[in-house]
Order: sequence, then C-alpha cells, then structure tokens
Amino acid sequence: MKVIAIAAFDEARVIGKDGELPWKIPEDFRHFASLTKGHTVLMGRKTYESLPPAFRPLPQRCNVVVTRNVQSLANEDGILLRSCPRGFIEDCRSGKEALQSDVLWVIGGEEIYRVTKDLWDAAEITRVQGRHEGDAFFPEFEDDFTLERQEQHDGFSFETFVRTA
Ligand SMILES: NC(=O)c1ccc[n+]([C@@H]2O[C@H](COP(=O)([O-])OP(=O)(O)OC[C@H]3O[C@@H](n4cnc5c(N)ncnc54)[C@H](OP(=O)(O)O)[C@@H]3O)[C@@H](O)[C@H]2O)c1
Repeated sequence: MKVIAIAAFDEARVIGKDGELPWKIPEDFRHFASLTKGHTVLMGRKTYESLPPAFRPLPQRCNVVVTRNVQSLANEDGILLRSCPRGFIEDCRSGKEALQSDVLWVIGGEEIYRVTKDLWDAAEITRVQGRHEGDAFFPEFEDDFTLERQEQHDGFSFETFVRTA
C-alpha cells in the first residue's frame, strides 16, 4: 500500500485562502480527479467543508474525513469519519482499515499535510506560478524526497516526488 500526498501550491507555498483555493486551474482539477478516482482520499474537516456541494463527498472515491469532534459531521452521508489521521494511515498499513485500492491519497489541508508528511511514500505536486494571498500553506517536505518527473504547463507544472530511500 502507498500513501501519496496530492496538493497544489504556489511560489510562497500557499494552498488556500479563506477556506478556498486561491486559483482556478481546470486542468489541475482533471489531474486531481484522474489520479484519485477509484481510491480512498483522506482529508481534514475544513477541506471537506470547502468542497463545492456538488463534489461533496468527492464522487467515485472513498472519502475519509478527520475531525476531533465526530458528532459535528455525524449526519453527513457518504463519508467515513475518523479522529486521528496518523492512526488511520497506520491502521490502513496494518490491514485494520480496509482500503478501496492499494493507494491512500492525502488531499489536505495544511494541518493534515503537516501531521502526516513523515508517512508519505510520494507526493504529486502542482506547482503554481506566482504568489497569491493565502492563509494555508504546504509544509517543507523536499529534503526527504526526490523529484522523479516534471511536466511543464502554461502557468503551472505537475511534479512527482518519491521518498528518497
Ligand atoms: N491547494 C491544495 O492542494 C489544497 C488541498 C486541500 C486543502 N486546501 C486548502 O487548505 C485550507 C484548509 O486547510 P486547514 O489546515 O485550514 O484545514 P484541514 O487540514 O483541511 O482541516 C483541519 C481540521 O482537521 C481536523 N484535524 C486536524 N488535525 C487533526 C488531528 N490530529 N486529529 C483529528 N482531527 C484533526 C480538525 O477538525 P475539527 O476542527 O472538526 O476537529 C481541524 O480543524 C483551505 O483553504 C483549502 O481550500 C488546498
């Protein structure tokens, strides 16, 4: 089983502002969907609530949402609620939690990236050109990873990092 983080961040490592993405890049939405569909996605409660209603829960994926207050989302349909992001990943590795596939995608936001980053096997990054105003950021992770693939597009690039052995 592999744990892969997926995120888009800009030159200031900004990922979000006021609970939303600071940019609209349709190609990145398609990239995100094509990589994550058919798999389990792990996210923080704030990221879940930031999804547009039509994409909440994210279709064709098993949506796992972490919160310290599972009662707050108890009436939401179609999601699995968990109270510990690291515990969830460890339970997936041990087989205690059953996954939809052999990949678990960590889809954010900042808090969830920060507490899980030492458990990632790889990271799929969309590096957005420019600097945006933001209040949520992607943590430094590059020191432990190797850039394996880079695909340049107009205004952004897709980058695949794998953990350095
Ligand atoms: N650019 C991108 O790729 C990308 C991807 C995802 C999100 N985002 C952006 O990131 C921002 C949201 O990030 P965020 O850091 O504010 O929020 P977040 O990580 O999405 O969610 C934080 C919440 O997760 C729960 N949580 C966090 N750590 C936990 C732990 N150790 N145990 C149990 N529950 C825990 C808590 O929920 P409770 O408060 O309910 O306890 C906490 O308030 C938004 O602006 C969003 O648009 C951007």
